[in-house]
Amino acid sequence: MTTEMQEIEQLRAMRAKAMAAGGPERIEAQHAKGKLTARERLAALLDAGTFQEIGALATHNVTDFDMADKKYPGDGVVAGFGKIHGRKVAVYAQDFTVLGGSFSEVQSSKICRVMDVAVESGIPIIGLIDSGGARIQEGVRSLAAYGQLFTRNVMASGVVPQISVILGPSAGGAVYSPALTDFVIMVRRISYMFITGPDVIKTVTGEEVSFRDLGGALVHNAKSGVAHLMADSEHQAFQQVKQLLSYLPPNNAEDPRRVEPYDDPMRMDEALNTIVPLDDTQPYDMHEVIERIVDRDSFFEIQPYYARNAITGFARLDGYPVGIVANQPNYLAGVLDIDSSDKIARFVRICDAFNIPLVTLVDCPGYLPGVEQEHHGIIRHGAKVIYAYCEATVPKISVVLRKAIGGAYIAMSSKQLRSDLAFAWPTAEIAVMGPEGAVNILYRRELAEAADPEALRRQIVEEYRRKFHNPYVAADTGQIDEVLEPRETRPRLIAALDILRGKVTTLPARKHGLMPV
Ligand code: HXC
Repeated sequence: MTTEMQEIEQLRAMRAKAMAAGGPERIEAQHAKGKLTARERLAALLDAGTFQEIGALATHNVTDFDMADKKYPGDGVVAGFGKIHGRKVAVYAQDFTVLGGSFSEVQSSKICRVMDVAVESGIPIIGLIDSGGARIQEGVRSLAAYGQLFTRNVMASGVVPQISVILGPSAGGAVYSPALTDFVIMVRRISYMFITGPDVIKTVTGEEVSFRDLGGALVHNAKSGVAHLMADSEHQAFQQVKQLLSYLPPNNAEDPRRVEPYDDPMRMDEALNTIVPLDDTQPYDMHEVIERIVDRDSFFEIQPYYARNAITGFARLDGYPVGIVANQPNYLAGVLDIDSSDKIARFVRICDAFNIPLVTLVDCPGYLPGVEQEHHGIIRHGAKVIYAYCEATVPKISVVLRKAIGGAYIAMSSKQLRSDLAFAWPTAEIAVMGPEGAVNILYRRELAEAADPEALRRQIVEEYRRKFHNPYVAADTGQIDEVLEPRETRPRLIAALDILRGKVTTLPARKHGLMPV
């Protein structure tokens, strides 16, 4: 064999070692847990044959704790670039078969390298997380390594989309990189996120809890709001990544891509004319309204299990991506509470960062009254909705379907918060407060002195409804630009977005505003 051939054989042998990850036994253990390996994951996520790896041969040089015997090429992360549906992405996949995917200096430098290239080249970053957190044997060096990663996450925030897919444990420091990204996807049964595990919790607080109940996919999707999507399998999670990317631009300097329109832009849906029940205490499903307005089957809900009184998600109108925000009358009457405020504000800011116009469908009785809400800061959290809408410079259109009462009218993309167009349906109710509350305040004395207080109350409530339970006062004063027949909503939104596509607006010069976090 020539020397050149020997060198090539050496390279091939080193690459083969990198491919072998933590060895057959650990790969088998990974599979036994129902999990794919890092390389199998990348193969499932990326277009075939597009993966360009970097750092496959990098190893640590730690010698303490027998680490000299635990050198694996790649050091527990597979990183590089590839394509998804033909669009470039930067990716990394932590390899649990190598030292539990623990985060090391080498891991950090590889991940930071792909992130730096991604930001400079304007391409999304996808992290596949499967890690026991900071590599204990590296001590402060692994903590510093996390600091490097978090800084990259923050610097990339709002510049390129960042998606984290949790595919195993995400423990300790491993949680904070995903938490700094735009979307967190978790998979039932295999994903766990926690800053400290059940054992430490038992020692510190005495609480006994399972991995799943502490930080499983359902907990973070439905309770904590840390995660934004839940999948039944790794393959489904990768489908969600692909779907997400289809609505997002590759970076903040580009617009999201239009797909070839496939649904009639002039389609009018007669069912919308009767979808809002005449009795305003009756609920209806806002999902149905959304589905009937947007391009067929284009609605992709974000955080569907969290704060279900609000709906957030991406959709398309005439092929163009839009962000949909809506109240859900079917759940807690669509009220704005702490969690739904956080959910809406975050989604509005994501859409704004990535040039995705916002369509807001309003049916909301206001901010939720109550001691618990007040004491947990509904004032601070509710302010985020106002702040986010006001700050957003993308095209913003609202449609009031029914209730826009009090704070809900203002906060949910009102014209006064720099929204561009405000529509209402004939069923709109735009008032400072609901009739019962208003009448009690305004006519307390008269009601107390009346011979038949109930009859008087009914009469005044009826008068109040006549006055405020319609969109015409608001239309008369210009707060509402146009009252629509509900079936016209789709063509009117498409036409309005077409006009607003070239919208240019500015914010005051400042370092940054102080969003009430
Ligand atoms: C080094 C680690 C490790 C770590 C796991 N391993 N976590 N090695 N540093 N952080 C190693 C294990 O020693 C083991 O090696 C192999 O990975 C597989 O781990 P197992 O425990 O056998 O797997 P499993 O039973 O599936 O349990 C997975 C786990 C558990 C739940 C993640 O390993 C665990 O609790 N790890 C520690 C989690 C944690 O508390 N991390 C916080 C670190 S502090 P061998 O060779 O025996 O097979 C931190 C702070 C940063 O991250 C803060 C920044 C803000």
